[in-house]
Amino acid sequence: MKRKRILSGMRPTGKLHLGNYAGVLVNWVRLQDEYQCFFEVADWHALTTGYDKTANLTEDTVEVVIDWLSAGIDIKKSVVFLQSDVKEHAELHLLLSMLVSVPRLQRNPTLKDQARDLELGENITYGHLGYPVLQAADILMYKGNAVPVGEDQLPHLEITRELARKFNTLYGVDVFPVPEPILTKFARLPGLDGRRMSKSVGNVILLADQPEEIEKKVKTAITDPEKVRMGDPGHPDICNVYAYHQTFSSGNLEEIEKTCKDGSRGCVVCKKEAAEAIAGFLAPIRQKRADYEKDRGQILKLLEEGAERAREVARETMGEVRKAMNLELG
Ligand code: TRP
Repeated sequence: MKRKRILSGMRPTGKLHLGNYAGVLVNWVRLQDEYQCFFEVADWHALTTGYDKTANLTEDTVEVVIDWLSAGIDIKKSVVFLQSDVKEHAELHLLLSMLVSVPRLQRNPTLKDQARDLELGENITYGHLGYPVLQAADILMYKGNAVPVGEDQLPHLEITRELARKFNTLYGVDVFPVPEPILTKFARLPGLDGRRMSKSVGNVILLADQPEEIEKKVKTAITDPEKVRMGDPGHPDICNVYAYHQTFSSGNLEEIEKTCKDGSRGCVVCKKEAAEAIAGFLAPIRQKRADYEKDRGQILKLLEEGAERAREVARETMGEVRKAMNLELG
């Protein structure tokens, strides 16, 4: 039986952080045996908000791929490639863009949040509005059955699902499966300040951070505001540092929760332990990272090989798409 397919992607944001790991990457690594996986660096998607800042695209792409590989993405199992290396995505994006209305895209909450954060107002571009259509083209190109993503991507994925159904119904052939999202248990790892971990907010711990850096950062993390000094009972359920323990400390969670609640645990020690747990968890990743960093050329080569494999699938899908839409003569 043919294995089901996964397509997922990340924009080239440079070095990844723990939120990327806990929200998405951990699932990618886990699902590689069960599914045939395609993982892309979505550089065209990065242009939707960064079309005027392209100087670091290559560098940022390499950093992302180094983190993927260091965290356990295996190119013997999965296809890793750069979106812009597979031009078919642009063709499918164009065709799918005919099947969705402008108001439908304007209603997308993820886009609305982004437009508000970036204060775009009326200046949102045509390309940016089409962000989820491009994402749909990515997913449907590989006939993805499942898409492991972060929570914020669910509205985009809903548009992919609508487009798959609409295409199949309109042209009377089941070319595309309707993909399902896969979320992680810790879809929402908080940043140091309790907001969503994000580079633009500046509240992140990077996979590449050294133990001293991690300790320094965790020290600044916001804990339960009602627990001011040792002896005050704390509320682990609203504490960012406890969230780090939950994700990265093995074993002693109950003890941490109990001693926090009864006041006998101080935040200083608790932070130190959380930082140690994170650093310990990241140690093997950091080590692999150091090896990959020595040879960036191999990353570019590996992306080229991935693109070859991706293109084979893309060519085949586009053949079916053009045929279904009567875009091929004869
Ligand atoms: N929009 C995704 C993000 O910002 C990146 C992405 C691009 C993606 N194409 C995709 C995710 C296809 C899943 C599937 O994280």
